[in-house]
Amino acid sequence: MPAPRSRPANPARLVQHHQMRDDPDLLRPIEEADLDTMRRLFTEPAMCKPFEWFGFRDPHAFRRRWEADGWIGKDDSMLAVRPPDGGFAGIVSWRPIRTVPEGACVEMGILLLPEHRGRGIGTEAQRQLVEYLFATTLVNRVQAGTDVENVAEQRALERAGFLREGVLRGCAFIGGRWRDGVMYARLRDDPAPPSA
Ligand SMILES: CC(C)(COP(=O)(O)OP(=O)(O)OC[C@H]1O[C@@H](n2cnc3c(N)ncnc32)[C@H](O)[C@@H]1OP(=O)(O)O)[C@@H](O)C(=O)NCCC(=O)NCCS
Repeated sequence: MPAPRSRPANPARLVQHHQMRDDPDLLRPIEEADLDTMRRLFTEPAMCKPFEWFGFRDPHAFRRRWEADGWIGKDDSMLAVRPPDGGFAGIVSWRPIRTVPEGACVEMGILLLPEHRGRGIGTEAQRQLVEYLFATTLVNRVQAGTDVENVAEQRALERAGFLREGVLRGCAFIGGRWRDGVMYARLRDDPAPPSA
């Protein structure tokens, strides 16, 4: 599968990127007020399709987990994405991938509410999550896999300084068939992403 073609930058979005870069707080811990929207984000097919719908799940699990550790834990973690005008735009997540030595690699994910997509928030939230992980942990590699047809996520990752590493054949079962994925990663010593 060839790499997606790079497209000329959209000047309107560059303004948004610069505005969001002045805001250090696009990510914050999940709050109680987020839980109902978060549950809908993960349990309503229309919120997740076409690439993130993996079937129904326990709708009460989100609150139970939040009450236990605020969704920041050893095995996996989530932060809320706060759009520039406040509120809740979705989540970013990460979990350790087994490596030697332990703690060297995490895999991250993101899911935004449909009304917050396509405004530059996904690019900036993922860039900020990587900076946060490099600043607060000894992680050397942050990786992210996505569907071969998920062009928005591939572009967002590239804009956030990730390099495309390869295709993972038949790695996800979505919509009744096995699908190929693409693996991206950013290493601690990789160049920082360009300013927009
Ligand atoms: C994928 C996702 C995180 C991207 O975040 P976003 O805020 O919507 O994307 P951005 O506005 O930052 O745009 C990133 C790039 O993708 C492009 N893009 C955005 N939506 C697109 C679409 N529907 N189709 C093609 N390209 C798209 C943008 O033009 C931009 O490219 P550019 O910088 O070359 O102009 C977000 O759309 C989302 O949460 N989608 C649903 C869940 C999902 O797919 N998560 C990733 C799973 S691995």
